[in-house]
Amino acid sequence: MAEFDASSYGRHIADIYDETVRGLPTDTAVACLARLAEGGPVLEFGIGTGRLALPLAERGLAVAGVDGSPDMVAALRAKPGGDRVPVTVGDFAEVRAGEAFALVVLAFNTVFALPSQDAQVRCFANAAAHLRPGGRFVVEAWVPDPGAFRDRAALRLLALSEDVVTAEAALLAPAEQMMYTTKIRLTGEGPRLLPANHRYAWPAELDLMGRLAGLEREHRWADWAGTPFTDDSRAHVSVYRLPGGA
Ligand SMILES: C[S@@+](CC[C@H](N)C(=O)[O-])C[C@H]1O[C@@H](n2cnc3c(N)ncnc32)[C@H](O)[C@@H]1O
Repeated sequence: MAEFDASSYGRHIADIYDETVRGLPTDTAVACLARLAEGGPVLEFGIGTGRLALPLAERGLAVAGVDGSPDMVAALRAKPGGDRVPVTVGDFAEVRAGEAFALVVLAFNTVFALPSQDAQVRCFANAAAHLRPGGRFVVEAWVPDPGAFRDRAALRLLALSEDVVTAEAALLAPAEQMMYTTKIRLTGEGPRLLPANHRYAWPAELDLMGRLAGLEREHRWADWAGTPFTDDSRAHVSVYRLPGGA
């Protein structure tokens, strides 16, 4: 299986990333993040092409980012306002990109792009190190569902229209909590393969990473609209807070 490499995801997808995320509830996520930021500066780990960061900046918030992919950052830079968002190119488990942020964001399952529990623990500690007292770290991720796999493999249809069909092939390695995936995107131009590997974790393991980083869990919702998280929730938006502040 392919090595984890912070730049590899963007190499495969940067030119079409925005098309692939059109169906996401971006406006709801941005409204939620703006409320959680309480006017303060925001840092997004894995800022990508600015799907969340640019509308947050349009609301008047100071926004900065970290991303490991020069291709994704180039796509951000090419957009109106994209050149005004400071971005540090590097691994968000390791690099420093300032301090005293009101909010650090790690959205769209990107915490699982880190290759190991150690790297994820370092990422939580790095998020905490960027926060001012009372600041928040928000993580959006799916809830692992090994029961959805038969013989540790799954092939599912993600999207279907007259012009684009997207399917995902996934292989589970439960002993290591790894899921290896490749999306197959079929258009009139032919097939595109979009690999993305995940070191997945249950919400409780992420909570423990938060505690190790000195963070307290403030909220857990099933989505950005604040729907209560239940036994049946397949995703979560978790808000961790550094003690202190007003
Ligand atoms: C799924 S995209 C999400 C982009 C954006 N946050 C959004 O919600 O649309 C994940 C982003 O994280 C970046 N990334 C993945 N692993 C990384 C790492 N270890 N350090 C820095 N960036 C990383 C990728 O390059 C990509 O831009």
